Amino acid sequence: MSRKNILALFSLVAGLALAPSAAMAQQEQSFRLGLITPPVHVWNQEVAALGETLQERSDGRFSITAYPSGQLGNEATMLQQLQTGALDMAWLTTAELTFRVPDMAALHAPFLVTNIADAARVFRSDEAREILDALPRATGTVGLCYAMIGMRQMVMRNPIDSAEELRGQRIRITPAPPISRFFEMFGAAPAPMPLPAIYDALANAQIDGLDMDYESIINFRYYEHAPYLLETNHHMFGMVALVSVRRWAQLSEEDRELVSDAMQLHCDRTIDRFVEEEEDKLDRLREASGIRITEGVGPEFFGDIVERWDAEWAERTPYVARLRELVASF
Ligand code: BEZ
Repeated sequence: MSRKNILALFSLVAGLALAPSAAMAQQEQSFRLGLITPPVHVWNQEVAALGETLQERSDGRFSITAYPSGQLGNEATMLQQLQTGALDMAWLTTAELTFRVPDMAALHAPFLVTNIADAARVFRSDEAREILDALPRATGTVGLCYAMIGMRQMVMRNPIDSAEELRGQRIRITPAPPISRFFEMFGAAPAPMPLPAIYDALANAQIDGLDMDYESIINFRYYEHAPYLLETNHHMFGMVALVSVRRWAQLSEEDRELVSDAMQLHCDRTIDRFVEEEEDKLDRLREASGIRITEGVGPEFFGDIVERWDAEWAERTPYVARLRELVASF
């Protein structure tokens, strides 16, 4: 469904019982927006900038109150809050949404792309946008746009020279079935855990490593306890900017367009920043953290993992084949 159709669909909903009164439309409104990342993160910086954009474009009627670092609970809790209308907006990972929208799993297909520029192209594709159509029914939210973080790497406590050495290793992952299956398929023991819990788990040796992007490795200083990085780029990692359907239906058509355009601007800026800064972040890690990097670890390191993962997940969603086809056309 196109953005225009999403706006039209919700005009219809809003035209029913929840139509905003003229007085309501003039009221100042602060949208409560939750996210799991800390204030220093690019997402949080763009959410702050989104607040400014909304204020400017609405002549001061709209603003954002951000709840960072999972203050309102983990992503599953925030999704429930969006569904009940207790929360207005959230920037949530595509990983969390795979629990409710099986097609989202295709965005976590292992080695779907080999670099972050192609990841950006996938998140901006019609195919990815179509996947958002399932959100209102499955989650009670409207997905306005995608953004992302950097490509995911493996950061380990001990040196790793072969996939065999990863067998039995407890590796922290973002909770999500498609990510979990990838790690199980080469014999690791995936440990699903929300972002704020990781540092202590690593410091206390409850985990042997993690699946992570450069931005978070730097922000959270994971290299202090996991100084060996396998540069795998094994999956891309998306974010969806969500609005509660209940909140959306209270906005006039004009205001929905205003919010949607502002959100798109900051989704796009987030994507562009990750693409532009990825190389530099790797250099910073190399130079400043003392981390030891094994470069260019590709799918062949993991044997026939792509074929096995695809065979399993293609049964659950046609988007595995569609996204592989899309990437082959780049
Ligand atoms: C994670 O769960 O690994 C994660 C979530 C959001 C941003 C960065 C990392």
